[in-house]
Amino acid sequence: MKSKLPLVSLDIGSAKTTICIGNFDTAGRVEIYNAIMVKTRGMQRGIITNLSEVAEGIEEAVKKAEAKFQASERCRKIWGKRQFRINSAYVTISGEHILGINTKTKLSLSDRPVEITNQDSLRAIEMAKSLSASIDREILHADAQEFIIDGYKKIKEPLGIYGTKLGVTLHLISCGSSFINSLVKAVNQAGLDVDGVVYSGLATSQAILTEEEKEAGVILLEMGAGTTNIMFFVEGRLFYTSTIPMGGYDITLEIARQMKIDFYQAEQLKMQYKSICVYPDGQTEGCDDKIIIKKSSSQYESISRQELAGIIDAKVRELFSMLKKEIESSGIIPRVGYGVVICGGVSFMDGVIEKLERQLNLPIHLGITRGFVSSFSGLGNSFYATGIGLIMHALAEKGKKYKSRNLQRGVVAQLVSKVKNIYEEYF
Ligand SMILES: Nc1ncnc2c1ncn2[C@@H]1O[C@H](COP(=O)(O)OP(=O)(O)OP(=O)(O)O)[C@@H](O)[C@H]1O
Ligand SMILES: [Mg+2]
Repeated sequence: MKSKLPLVSLDIGSAKTTICIGNFDTAGRVEIYNAIMVKTRGMQRGIITNLSEVAEGIEEAVKKAEAKFQASERCRKIWGKRQFRINSAYVTISGEHILGINTKTKLSLSDRPVEITNQDSLRAIEMAKSLSASIDREILHADAQEFIIDGYKKIKEPLGIYGTKLGVTLHLISCGSSFINSLVKAVNQAGLDVDGVVYSGLATSQAILTEEEKEAGVILLEMGAGTTNIMFFVEGRLFYTSTIPMGGYDITLEIARQMKIDFYQAEQLKMQYKSICVYPDGQTEGCDDKIIIKKSSSQYESISRQELAGIIDAKVRELFSMLKKEIESSGIIPRVGYGVVICGGVSFMDGVIEKLERQLNLPIHLGITRGFVSSFSGLGNSFYATGIGLIMHALAEKGKKYKSRNLQRGVVAQLVSKVKNIYEEYF
């Protein structure tokens, strides 16, 4: 299905906010027309800490995206001379309040075998969702893992099969209602409507993981500034989701704390010397040079690169051992066939792959963004993965809705109308 209006994704991370613009091209491929990145304000670890700042940040990002796209050759081709305006966007949500659970339910259809319809599958899914519903949580995504017909498991598509009982196992991702309401409010305050709210990890997985990796069993580790998203797919289905409040900022905070400097100086040091900082254990080659740090307007102090490397190394170890605990306690490791794919800002630090490989004892692969075309350069690494994945996700959802338009309203559409109602009631 092709629609004329470009879709817009808005990913408000702890460090950066991105806006991507895209749609299907004439050959039916996902095309990213343009993308911008600005610094995030008023958000920490997926939680809004200052709503006005977030809204202002979104407005600023929207203006930048509109101007950049308007000035592009691609815009002239698609949009002609018309003024390009962003009126709505798909938005990501993340944070410790994100919860992934596996649940199942069984539906009695009839005493005699009957042909299973789409309505039956949807009824089973809705029943499982309603059993997991709670007043303070919103279900963002419901991914059917398998259907069970009269005790026979591993059925991917029950449509047309005969049975008397239909069971379904689902992976549900939910978020705290107050967090989603605040997010929608901030986006609305910036003058945009919300087309859909999508868990950031799920959006990222869409642009990073291949179907083959998801079939074989793959862990996606998205290590951002304030949050780390962990997702596990096997047999093509999602089985595990969790977000833990740790990321690159924790490394920066540790540098700032130990060196008694401010956060921004610590972030600069981390970015400038990252290439020697996370070398595999014991390797300190090239770490003897002195770094001058500014303590106050007149006070300077020198430290060795080795000292800085030591601080970063210790923090990275601590973060990775937390990750290891989380992954081990989830029980997914025996089913990992492909390995772990890493992305997010922390994955750009040198030595991360070797260090994680030793901690987790699993093959580690650096994620790249794939599955789209673009004439816009700079989308090759995973910095825009979440925004690009969100466009892909939105287009896939639209396709699904189109296929079953008389049978089902998309999860995202349901969620948004619900969010809008809640929003109108309370704000
Ligand atoms: N090239 C790099 N080398 C090392 N660290 C980097 C690099 N680029 C970014 N980072 C670090 O990665 C973090 C930013 O990652 P990312 O852009 O994925 O976060 P985010 O999406 O804004 O936040 P989150 O998803 O956690 O809410 C920062 O801590 C930054 O210092
Ligand atoms: Mg992010």
